[in-house]
Amino acid sequence: MAFENLEESLRQKEYIQKMQEYVEAETEKIGRALTYHIETFGCQMNAKDSEKFAGILQEIGYQEEADEEKADFILYNTCTVRENANMKVYGRLGQLNYIRKTQNPHMVLALCGCMMQEPDEVQTVREKYPFVKIVFGTHNIFKLAELLYRSTQEKGMIIDVWEGTDEIVEDLPALRKYPFKSGVNIMYGCNNFCSYCIVPYVRGRERSREPEDILSEIRRLADEGVKEVMLLGQNVNSYGKNLNQPVTFSELLKEVEKIDGIERIRFMTSHPKDLSDELIETMGASKKVCTHFHLPMQSGSNRILKEMNRHYTREKYLEIVEKLRKAVPDISITTDIIVGFPGETEEDFCDTLDMVRRVRFDSAFTFIYSKRTGTPAAKMENQVPEAEVKDRFDRLLSLVQSIGQETSGRDVGRTLPVLVEEINHQDQTLVSGRLSNNTVVHFPGCEAMIGRIVNVKLKESHGFYYLGECTEA
Ligand code: SAH
Ligand code: SF4
Ligand code: F3S
Repeated sequence: MAFENLEESLRQKEYIQKMQEYVEAETEKIGRALTYHIETFGCQMNAKDSEKFAGILQEIGYQEEADEEKADFILYNTCTVRENANMKVYGRLGQLNYIRKTQNPHMVLALCGCMMQEPDEVQTVREKYPFVKIVFGTHNIFKLAELLYRSTQEKGMIIDVWEGTDEIVEDLPALRKYPFKSGVNIMYGCNNFCSYCIVPYVRGRERSREPEDILSEIRRLADEGVKEVMLLGQNVNSYGKNLNQPVTFSELLKEVEKIDGIERIRFMTSHPKDLSDELIETMGASKKVCTHFHLPMQSGSNRILKEMNRHYTREKYLEIVEKLRKAVPDISITTDIIVGFPGETEEDFCDTLDMVRRVRFDSAFTFIYSKRTGTPAAKMENQVPEAEVKDRFDRLLSLVQSIGQETSGRDVGRTLPVLVEEINHQDQTLVSGRLSNNTVVHFPGCEAMIGRIVNVKLKESHGFYYLGECTEA
């Protein structure tokens, strides 16, 4: 059970105030505003957390600086899901240290996020990157203002990492990247312990928010002009199971659907093992839930799925896909696949290729298995040789891409609603937005269209995006 801690948010608001006074005094002293830069690694959870950090920093009086090398306060929100995520952070820390020494001696550097939940990584930071001022984890992100304040008062590195929590502190400022769409946390953590995955260790046990808290947040967002919400959790299909009064994910969706002003509902991520018929039915009947389903498959081999502790079979996966396509004929299905899990044979891998051919995913994120210390898979003996994994990865990627190319373009000629997101980066006469199924569309338009849902005739398909023409005045 999790509870929202209002007392703690009041306490943090006091630190925000103290920091406001500090920033005001500094601004006066140096004759310019203090600036911040946040670098976000990893998934939507981290992206959402970073919006909360930005909200707190702006409330304090910091201004955003796009060039990290010039910022007064730099926050790295880290990810540790695969080894290369960690390497990226260390690589850039080295660079930043050089900048700090040569150009920006007042730079204050903070690290947070999933990597900081691993004691070995914190030890590495302590030993090799002593110039880092603040280190905190995923369970106490709401303490940013307090930690910043402490950093103005104390010498040395401040480390505040919690092993876990049953608290949810939500009532703090947040800054949205887009005014018209927003992620909404519906649950935190993960209880699934897929044998390769570090997330349950760094994000803690699964905690669902109370439906009323989620709904009032979404009502507030709708009042502020948000049209699209993305409900966030590591496994949204198990939402609500541990609440005092259990609620299903499908029931939550139906309540979100009733909120005026919200026109599109997305969610991330779904685990096949908990995906209910009730949810598929709700999606079929819904006018607002988008026609996109991200359903991580991980492997097409029953033997490997079992070793991964995924609790479904290829047959079950295919059955779900069939039901989804029947209930929502336009649906686009995307997935995640891992290649080179310990003990994966050529035969297992061929089962994965076979599943990709059968399902015909609209697109897939493909990953090379990365050994994460502390997970059961890391202790498995039969790790697959690197060259073999690379060869399989290339074969998988080319299959995924060729199927993606065949399926893309299936909507050419249709006129479909697009939520306009921004002016096109390459061509200022175009705007870019997304279809309900998440495909990107570019078409002639102007700034005034941003944040609106308009009908667009899809004229040409260019692989992963369409070129179209707006059919409204
Ligand atoms: N909760 C989500 C996944 C979050 S991690 C889910 O279960 O669907 C996102 C993706 O990273 C996973 O789906 C998986 O494909 C990949 N991943 C996780 N751990 C990995 C590892 N050790 N090596 C390679 N890929 C991994
Ligand atoms: Fe990791 Fe599995 Fe949890 Fe997803 S469901 S976060 S892959 S343990
Ligand atoms: Fe990475 Fe943490 Fe997300 S490990 S994928 S940022 S939950």
